[in-house]
Amino acid sequence: MSKISRRKFIGNAAVAGTGACVCGLSGCATFTKVGDTPPIPSDAYTIESNKLTISLEKVAALAKVGGSVKIADAKLPQSLIVARPGNGDYTVVSIKCPHRGAEVEYQHDAKEFRCASLGHSTFKTDGTFIKGFAGKSLTKFSADLDSSNKNRLLVKLS
Ligand code: FES
Repeated sequence: MSKISRRKFIGNAAVAGTGACVCGLSGCATFTKVGDTPPIPSDAYTIESNKLTISLEKVAALAKVGGSVKIADAKLPQSLIVARPGNGDYTVVSIKCPHRGAEVEYQHDAKEFRCASLGHSTFKTDGTFIKGFAGKSLTKFSADLDSSNKNRLLVKLS
């Protein structure tokens, strides 16, 4: 068995302790870059002609004000997060933090998006940058309820 110096042992313990602390504080999102937002059911949306259509009655996570879902689909220009800040009010922004690409999550009590990583960059519900390492805003996509069917959310992708 090889000997290890006291100094090296303490250094390794400090590094291990720091890792555990970071993980504990961030729910491991610092390493996985994945937040806690549930994914949208695959049968709850369609993508056609640069338009994303969401069937709201199929998305339980958006049934209540304050809910949110994420959508990752190769047909999208980028992965998205859809949040419901108010009654009849939906907002759609890019889910990846401009800093290092961790997912952002919707925080309804603060009415903002917050990076799941330790940097915790924050953004207004329209994606506007507030503070943190990101330094720039999330991409916002225009989203409106279909005037002929209030259970359908229409999102312009460009
Ligand atoms: S990845 Fe979001 S603040 Fe670093």
